[in-house]
Amino acid sequence: MLFDVLNCPRCERGALRQDRAGYICTRCSSGYPVIGEIPWLFQDPQDAAGEWRARLTLLLGELREDASATRAALAAPDLLPRTRERLEHVAGALEDHGRRLAGLLAPLDIHAGGADRDALRALRTRLPVSQALTTYYVNIHRDWNWGEVENHATLDLLDAAAGGPMAGARVLVIGAGAGRLAYDLHRRHAPALTVAMDLNPMLLSVAREMYAGRTLELYEFPLAPRGPADHAILRSLCAPAPADDRLRIVAADAMRAPFRPGAFDVVVTPWFLDIVEEPLPHLAAHINALVANGGRWLNVGSVAFGFMNTRRAQQFGLDEVLEIVQGAGFAAPGVRESGVPYMQSPASRHARLESIVAWSARKLADARRPASRGLPAWCVDPAQPVPLLAELQSHARATRIHAFVMSLVDGKRTLGDIAQVMVEQRLMQPADALPAVRAFMLRMQEDAMRRTNL
Ligand SMILES: C[S@@+](CC[C@H](N)C(=O)[O-])C[C@H]1O[C@@H](n2cnc3c(N)ncnc32)[C@H](O)[C@@H]1O
Repeated sequence: MLFDVLNCPRCERGALRQDRAGYICTRCSSGYPVIGEIPWLFQDPQDAAGEWRARLTLLLGELREDASATRAALAAPDLLPRTRERLEHVAGALEDHGRRLAGLLAPLDIHAGGADRDALRALRTRLPVSQALTTYYVNIHRDWNWGEVENHATLDLLDAAAGGPMAGARVLVIGAGAGRLAYDLHRRHAPALTVAMDLNPMLLSVAREMYAGRTLELYEFPLAPRGPADHAILRSLCAPAPADDRLRIVAADAMRAPFRPGAFDVVVTPWFLDIVEEPLPHLAAHINALVANGGRWLNVGSVAFGFMNTRRAQQFGLDEVLEIVQGAGFAAPGVRESGVPYMQSPASRHARLESIVAWSARKLADARRPASRGLPAWCVDPAQPVPLLAELQSHARATRIHAFVMSLVDGKRTLGDIAQVMVEQRLMQPADALPAVRAFMLRMQEDAMRRTNL
């Protein structure tokens, strides 16, 4: 049944069939692996695996650094006994957390990369930068441990807006995360097929374990811990029952979704539209392409386009969003709105209440799809020169100055010495040099200390 909806994400025209090592396109012969039992259907699967591998390497390194800094803090002579206890607890949890995540993501084969961690940090990667492995880590615990009330609130609101049955339908959940909503929908409505798609292998690996009926133990690190043990809690995650084999997981990018046009009767976007870097009109056209004529687009989640989007023109309000949906070939959506609890971990003093929106919009017509987010030719062909744009030139100069100032830090020079060099090199005026160098060095120290990826 999964094969009936799949399409090659590279040529976008060929069907996929099972191959010895994974999946293969019947038209262009592109191959796609299965990683950790999950079909890995990215347009460039090796690239995507490499990027996630790099992010995992960074994350595990940061966890190790955090654990040893926490242990080092134990050397301070004047610690309260409670502080000592907390530090010991957290350090042990961080070490164990790293081992558990490495185990969960072992199929990514972290040792295959072997890249320098500072080089990884400097070069970053092409998957959306906002989507780190642990960006939605807390959702895992909400989905599969303490989130009963909020999981149901979201599901009930979606159902109230759904505008029709889903029994026997083909359903796609885009940005399914750790997979709870897809699981609940599947159990409640018995579709013929439910595909839970996401691009984050950590979340999908959790979904895989849950759907298989296995139990997984992972740490939660609440933002505002209530008691001493709440700084790091080892939670036991499991689904109420194993899922049937009509609930399937696919790793892919929604902007290059590996599905045939019109493959789904229902496409669901839970807490997704406003966290995507792609402008909503483009995303809506991509979603239109996946919905069968007469099928439905169901959405549920926040309307907070200002959160991710720095461009004012794309910080849409609900009225604009509904117009965009209709502009993308859908009928006027039937909308429901409700206040729901959000991320109310019992171990945290922080909790949110969100007013969220659900809608159902029936597809009336095909929308014109925007050109895919293709890579420029110099990026695809390693033999082509990288163009030297004016902006890049100026950025390169700033980066050289940045590296030059950093190279002056040798553990002996003072801020005054460094400022003096900047003046001698005619990079700054004497009056500006000291405050600028002070602010820069403070920022560098803070950046170096910050755990970027936890
Ligand atoms: C706010 S989270 C919501 C997750 C889940 N629906 C929930 O309610 O817990 C957004 C999800 O979208 C996924 N995501 C972001 N960009 C994506 C893309 N281009 N393609 C597929 N999934 C994406 C993220 O990995 C994340 O799991």
